[in-house]
Amino acid sequence: MGGIFAAVSISKKNVAPIIRSALEKMLFRGSDCAGIATAFEGKLFIKKDRGSVKEVHAKLNLDDLPGYIGVGQTRFATHGRPHVDNAHPLTDCSGMLAIVGDGAVENYEELRDDVAYRGHNVVSRCDFEIVAHMLEDELRSRGSLIEAVRNVVKVLKGFYSFAVLDARKEIIVGYTSKQPLYLCLGEDLIVLSSTKSSLVDLCKKYVQIDGGEMAVLTTTGFDVLDAGTGKSIKKDMKSLDVPPDLADKDGYPHHMLREIYEVPYALLRTISTIQKKYLALAARLLTTARNVFIIADGTSLHAGFVASYYFAELANLSPIVVSAAEFPLYYVENVGPGTVVIAISQSGETGDVLRSVYEAKLRGATILGITNYIGSRLAQFSNLYLPIAAGPELAVPATKTFTSTLALLYMLALRCAQDLGKISGSEFVEKVEKLRSFADTLIEAIPSIDSKASEAAQAIAKCRSGYVISRGITYPIAMEGALKLKETAYMHAEGMEAGEFLHGPVVLVEPGFFTIFIIPVESVAAKATYPLIASSAEKGATVVTIGFYGDPALREVPGIVIEVPACERHLAPIATVVPLQLVAYRLGVLRGCPIDSPKYLRKAVT
Ligand code: F6R
Repeated sequence: MGGIFAAVSISKKNVAPIIRSALEKMLFRGSDCAGIATAFEGKLFIKKDRGSVKEVHAKLNLDDLPGYIGVGQTRFATHGRPHVDNAHPLTDCSGMLAIVGDGAVENYEELRDDVAYRGHNVVSRCDFEIVAHMLEDELRSRGSLIEAVRNVVKVLKGFYSFAVLDARKEIIVGYTSKQPLYLCLGEDLIVLSSTKSSLVDLCKKYVQIDGGEMAVLTTTGFDVLDAGTGKSIKKDMKSLDVPPDLADKDGYPHHMLREIYEVPYALLRTISTIQKKYLALAARLLTTARNVFIIADGTSLHAGFVASYYFAELANLSPIVVSAAEFPLYYVENVGPGTVVIAISQSGETGDVLRSVYEAKLRGATILGITNYIGSRLAQFSNLYLPIAAGPELAVPATKTFTSTLALLYMLALRCAQDLGKISGSEFVEKVEKLRSFADTLIEAIPSIDSKASEAAQAIAKCRSGYVISRGITYPIAMEGALKLKETAYMHAEGMEAGEFLHGPVVLVEPGFFTIFIIPVESVAAKATYPLIASSAEKGATVVTIGFYGDPALREVPGIVIEVPACERHLAPIATVVPLQLVAYRLGVLRGCPIDSPKYLRKAVT
C-alpha cells in the first residue's frame, strides 16, 4: 500500500519531476520504497528502489525519466519486505504496463497461483503485480485498457486502488474499490492522486473518484467512468480545501487527528491484507502450543489484554499476557520448546520486546510477531509474522495501529476457533464481514463522536485527575484511555476495573475529579455500572459515559454521554477506544500539548 500519483502533461513536458515532488508530499502514506514509471516513444521507463522518495531520488535521479505521461508510488510495505523487487511501479511480462497501487487485494493468494499457472513471470511478492499480469492477459484478448480494467476488477476483492499506465497507447486508467481518488486538471496537467493534499500547488479544483469508478487520463483529456456499466459519469468539481501549511498532514492540524479519522480505513486495510495461509499457520502454532505468552509494552500490551479475552472466549486458549519489560525477569523460566510467544509491537523495534524475543528463542520458543513494519527487527526475528497493515503512524500516541492490531488478533482468535471446530468456516467469514461493515459504520460515526469528545474534553479540562472505568472485555480499553490522556493531554488518569472501584479508589471521587465510564458489554457488568455513574455524579465528579447507540439506560445517565455504534461484543474494544482517543486529542489541544511528539517520548522506545 502507499500513496499513488499519475500525471499527464498536455503541452508535452516531462512529468517525472512533478510526480516526484507530489510523492514527496505524501510521506505519511509510506516511505519504505519509491518509484516512477513514464512512457516515451512507445517504451516504458522505470526507476525505483527501497527507501523514501528523497533517498531514491538522490540515488537514481527520478527527474530525468523521459515522457509526458507517468505514474509513481511511495510505498508502505505490507506484501513483500522493503526491497527493490517489491517497489512500485510493477510491470507485466511484456514490460509495457506499469501499475502503482494502494490498499490490498484480498484474494491475492488465489490470483497469484492462477497467474503463475498461466506461465507469467512473477518477480515480486506484491499483490498489484498480479493485477498487472491479469491486465496483460485481458489486453491480449480485448485490446482496450479500459475494458481490461473493467473485467479484472470484477474478480479482485479487497480495499484497494490503483493506476495503470500502458506505454504503447499512452493512457492511464485509475480505479478505486472504495477510498476516493482525486482527479484534477491544472493549467497544463491532468493528475490523479490517492492523496488530496498532493494537489496543492497543482490545481484549485478537483473531481472525486468514488468506489467502483474509473478515471481515464490521456494526452487529450480525462474521463470518469462507472466500472460496472462502462458509461461516462458526470461529476461535480469541488474546490480544494487543503490549507497549504497543513498539506503534509493531509489538511489535518495534527497527524494524531488524521490517524484517528483513518481508524476505519485502517481496519479495512488490515482485513484485506491478511493472507489466509499465514493466518492459518499462526492459528496452527497457537492451537498446538504447550503454552502461549503475549508480550508487548504500552498500547500494544493493552491490545494483548483484549486478545486474551478473544482467545479465551472464542478458542478456550489461555495465553499469559505480560509486559515485555517484565517477561525476562520472571516468566522466561517457563519457556521451552512448544512455547509460542506472540510478540506485539507496532514499530517492531521496542527494546524490551526484542530482548524478550531473544530470551524466548534461546529457550526454544516459537515467535509469532505482530507488527506494522515488516522491515522491522521484530519481523526478522520472528518465526512467523503477521502485518498489522494500518499504514504509517507518525504521531507518537498510537491510535489506528491499536485498533488494527485488535482486528488482526480478533481474526487470529477466530481462525483458532475454526481450527478447533468451535465455529465453522462460514461463521468465520460472517464474523469478518461484520468487522468490515462495522468499519463502514464507523466512517460515518466518527464526526459526531468527535463533537461529543470535544464537549467532554472541555469539561475534563477543569479537573486535576481522574479514572477511566470499565469491566470485562473493555477493561483494557479503560487502561488504554488513561494512557492516551496521560501522554497526549498530560492529564493524570488511571484505568480502573469497575468491580475494584469500590474497594478503595472511590475515596478520590469529588469535585475537580473526573470519571469516564465505558459501559461494559457483559450485561451483568453493565447493570452494576449505572449505579457507579450516578454515585460519581452525586459526589460532584465530572462524569462522562461511553455507551452504545440504542441503549435506553443512557438517557438516564448524568453528565456527558458519548454514543458509539452498536456492534458485536468482540468489536466493542474498537468502538469504545475511538472516543477516548478523541477526548485525549481534544484535551491535549485545549491544554496546548505537543500532540504528535509528547515530551520524553519517541515512536519506538529502543
Ligand atoms: C502509546 C504508545 C506506546 C507504545 C509502546 C510500545 O500511545 O505508543 O505506549 O505502545 O511504546 O510500542 P510498540 O508497539 O512500537 O512496541
